[in-house]
Amino acid sequence: MSTTTETQTSTKFGTTADIPIPRGETQSTLTFFAAPTDGAKPYNLAGDNVDNPPPGVPQRNYNEFTHDVTIQDIRGREQEFDINVNGFGTISNISSEEKLFDDDERIERVYYPEIEKLLLDNVDGAKRIFLFDHTVRRSNPGAKRAPVNRAHIDQTTKSATARVHHHMGAEADDLLKDRVRLINVWRPLNGPVVASPLAYADSRSVPDEDIVGVEHRYPDRTGETAGVKYTEQAKWHYWSGMTNEERLLLQCYDSKDGARTPHSAFVDPRTRTEWPGRESIEVRALVFG
Ligand code: OGA
Ligand code: FE
Repeated sequence: MSTTTETQTSTKFGTTADIPIPRGETQSTLTFFAAPTDGAKPYNLAGDNVDNPPPGVPQRNYNEFTHDVTIQDIRGREQEFDINVNGFGTISNISSEEKLFDDDERIERVYYPEIEKLLLDNVDGAKRIFLFDHTVRRSNPGAKRAPVNRAHIDQTTKSATARVHHHMGAEADDLLKDRVRLINVWRPLNGPVVASPLAYADSRSVPDEDIVGVEHRYPDRTGETAGVKYTEQAKWHYWSGMTNEERLLLQCYDSKDGARTPHSAFVDPRTRTEWPGRESIEVRALVFG
């Protein structure tokens, strides 16, 4: 007798097949960035600095606050969205040889080549891909990384450029003369997603002045991501019931056309507490050409 079967049948919603997937427009509360009142460069401490902060240095110097937003479902009208225009795009019917996503070495060996091909096949003009990072997120309390309920963009012009230098070495200067994009490929591991879906704002609906670089101060280096201010005009979207065969492309940087999409996990008020928490993986790619 398999214990897996026991767990699957032990609660009414032990398998997602029993769950009425929430679809259509929804409302949620997202966390946004508010600039330091003294006009200082925003920062937070990172890495070992978090547990051992330099004496007298606060963990961060900016504020966050929450705001209600309406989030539209793109399910059924996926073709209306284009990563070059909106900063995000969708790909359907993709299979993967990797099933467990519990071993970083195997993820890099089996899943990375699939992502490289996916990007070369689906991103106009892409000639070369360098995958530099991935994050597996699970919602259970002991998980290393959980969904992120904060509007942000993973990179800024400064950190994207630094990434190219860091990973591409002597080729960096030449590569930076042409188009460089930074794209995350996101998918659930236990789809269909019924809890903590990912929301993303149409790039065109969030002006540059609402996107603010935030330094991540590690003991030995400083990285940078972007905080996102609340703006009424932001148009937020999600892809209801996203499955394991679907891929979301989230563009964080584009040296040519500039589309970049603020994103955040959100608590869907229609989700019931007994439903399974979302598990996902995002792979981060430098896309050249
Ligand atoms: C990302 C990201 C958050 C989440 O893919 O860049 O911020 O909750 N994901 O999956
Ligand atoms: Fe992100």
